[in-house]
Amino acid sequence: MDRTAENPRQAFVIGHPIAHSRSPMIHRYWLQQAGLSGGYVPVDVAPAYLPSFFQALKDGSSGYIGGNVTVPHKEAVLELVDEIDDTARQIGAVNTVWLEDGRLMATNTDSLGFAANLDDSAPGWDRGKRAIVLGAGGASRAVIHALLARGFDEVFIVNRTRARASALAERFGPRVSAHGMGELADLMNGADLFVNTTTLGMAGTEVPSIDFSTMAEGGLVTDIVYVPLQTPLLAMARRQGRATADGLGMLLHQAVPGFHKWFGITPVVTPELRELVIADMEAHS
Ligand code: ATR
Repeated sequence: MDRTAENPRQAFVIGHPIAHSRSPMIHRYWLQQAGLSGGYVPVDVAPAYLPSFFQALKDGSSGYIGGNVTVPHKEAVLELVDEIDDTARQIGAVNTVWLEDGRLMATNTDSLGFAANLDDSAPGWDRGKRAIVLGAGGASRAVIHALLARGFDEVFIVNRTRARASALAERFGPRVSAHGMGELADLMNGADLFVNTTTLGMAGTEVPSIDFSTMAEGGLVTDIVYVPLQTPLLAMARRQGRATADGLGMLLHQAVPGFHKWFGITPVVTPELRELVIADMEAHS
């Protein structure tokens, strides 16, 4: 008897708000491709209801087997799970949870997603030694984690508010240093990789002019913002003849480990899935 057909596994993405999450589209695509009868639903959970949502998840009464966690819950969830792996602990945020032998486990797949996207779209990106990360928010922490894991010797965090960059440099240790925006031009000299994690240039904010020409030969510019796909910073880098990689693949790849935990299959990030998400972005722009 097909047990999954009778009692299909259900996973969730919780956030507040949650309406614009593209995770349901991604996981439902993979469920369909694999012919599985499981489900994946968006659930709007206001912060005040987060503890009771997790209580019901842990005692089994919610019926879910796990799910994704997004803004604004990624940090609060650290206190609500039974086990946090090293990656989530180092990043200081959780984006994926699953039940295992009655215990609620947590990880953060953004770091793997960042690296897997570049493995796909810019193979050899991790041969570089020096990286600049613009921004010092939550997304920046996952990127820094990935850069250290993939062997970068020097990671320069450049941020408008220098104190936030310093806090991250302290958190991640000696290979990471903190800088203000005024140091960017100097740091670009010989850099192998430039990663934007800010919304700079979006929603009407001014994009500062950045000279990418002094980067190392073959230097790569990438953005983790993917709406629009060609962000103002990527467009600027391309105009200067730099290789670029957009951030949509990070969203797709970060979803892979969660799907595997919940449904037991490692899904594939296909060009068709990417096109599906792009079409959805265009329909809602
Ligand atoms: P996330 O968790 O998505 O990374 P966040 O924690 O709000 O979001 O961080 C946003 C980052 O973008 C910060 O590094 C922020 O700089 P500050 O720390 O100085 O606030 C950066 N950022 C946002 N708008 C910016 C702007 N107009 N100019 C420069 N940096 C900006």
